[in-house]
Amino acid sequence: MNSFTKHEDPIILERTYRLFREYFKLAEKKRRWSLDEDIPWDQCNPALHGVVADVVETFCSVELYLPDYLSKLIPQVRTNRGRAWFLANWGYEESKHSMALSDWLLKSRQRTDEQMTDLDARVSANEFILPSDSALGMLCYAMMQELATWLNYVQLRRVVKDKGGDPALDTVLRLISVDERAHYDFFRKVVSMYLEHDREATIQHLRDIIYNFQMPAVDLLSDGRQRVERVRALKIFDEEIFYFQVVEPALAALGLTKADLKQRKFKRDASLAVAF
Ligand SMILES: [Fe+2]
Ligand SMILES: [Fe+2]
Repeated sequence: MNSFTKHEDPIILERTYRLFREYFKLAEKKRRWSLDEDIPWDQCNPALHGVVADVVETFCSVELYLPDYLSKLIPQVRTNRGRAWFLANWGYEESKHSMALSDWLLKSRQRTDEQMTDLDARVSANEFILPSDSALGMLCYAMMQELATWLNYVQLRRVVKDKGGDPALDTVLRLISVDERAHYDFFRKVVSMYLEHDREATIQHLRDIIYNFQMPAVDLLSDGRQRVERVRALKIFDEEIFYFQVVEPALAALGLTKADLKQRKFKRDASLAVAF
């Protein structure tokens, strides 16, 4: 049984849909941006250090698994209009992220068309498997993952500045990070609602997700481990950053502490698993 069945209380469905409508209203009013008009593409810096392009390519590949995310997440929430409609809107926003990053890789001449075609083929070769088959579990995962993704883009923006600057990429990263933060905020509000509704089950899922957390899809690429290492070496993301800048603030925003999660031991075998 999908663990969401228990939660499909009409009040929860109504509140989720209202949260989605608030999210959508703000997105339409304040957050819509254009790939063609809002990025100063004539200010790409082809001399930017290659290590930045490697990380941009890694983040782009994570965004390129969008068909797997959508095709697997929507069936989990098909009877929850707020979450299903959210995913439709989320998919549109996420599709722009991979397009903006790919366009930058090409326009800055950091990658050729052939290299981008090869990346597409490598991404398509493996399917992303959801880390939880429960809709509530994926809600908790999405909340953590969106905050981590927001942070990844914020940190990469800092690295771009340090490595010589690039006004086009800086704009791309700013626009994407604002979207990622809005995704996190929506998921956080929904998780908060489930905490009120079924505290025990929500904490259990949060615990599973936090103790086994892994950024999606990077390990599906043959050179995934090197990519994770590059991200780690640039201090964009590692276990410490995940704990102090993702887990702690996310738990605090939900009114929880580490002590609320410490009721059982969990396996920790993920490449970016957190060492508590
Ligand atoms: Fe994204
Ligand atoms: Fe996102």
